[in-house]
Amino acid sequence: MASRCKTAILISGSGTNLQAFIDAVKKGDLDLELTVVFSNNPDAYGLKRAEQAGIPTACIQHSDYPDRESFDHAVIAELDRFEPDLLILAGFMRILSPTFVAHYAGKILNIHPALLPLYRGLNTHQRVLDAGDKWHGSTVHFVTEDLDGGPRILQGRLAVIPGESADELAARVQTVEHRIYPEAAGWVGSGKVRFENGQSWVDGKPAAEPVVQTHQV
Ligand code: GAR
Repeated sequence: MASRCKTAILISGSGTNLQAFIDAVKKGDLDLELTVVFSNNPDAYGLKRAEQAGIPTACIQHSDYPDRESFDHAVIAELDRFEPDLLILAGFMRILSPTFVAHYAGKILNIHPALLPLYRGLNTHQRVLDAGDKWHGSTVHFVTEDLDGGPRILQGRLAVIPGESADELAARVQTVEHRIYPEAAGWVGSGKVRFENGQSWVDGKPAAEPVVQTHQV
């Protein structure tokens, strides 16, 4: 992948992960060109973060389209104007159609707030607490048609603190996300990590397991 990798970031809400990308690029820690921030939600605070950082924004509301397929076609047409090499899903709360995933095959990353393959889907923090797990965290992975099931790249894990609430745990997980997502995206942007034949490759070798980092936050 090109060293100055053209990157689109897709958001639906607050965009704290987007902010982590903006900050890392500004500091010179991350060599990506943030070419557009896209949202399906015109009220997403992340759009303001992008504007403040001077990054072009685009917004298409899914409610203006009759179905997922037609919405995704519109999003593809919009994003392709920016010729992205990489798509970063950062709290983009839409399920992608197979058409969308195929169009950007191997170029889409997601972050999911769980130690995948544990806890796909929603409400991960409460589910971890309910199960009495000792560890929780977040996973950066390539996006495939298998929801939350694509090849994993990097996991940040932290110890669950006895008695903490789901909100407290979620906040700590987000702090970890802000560290691991730009790092993993940088690996993909530089070509260190790539997606081929349905799996993740690191330095030219197939990687069945993600890199796992333990964080104290
Ligand atoms: C992040 O914590 C991310 O893990 C989660 O949405 C949050 C977005 O926060 N994504 C998912 O749950 C995807 N299944 P942000 O808007 O502050 O970056």
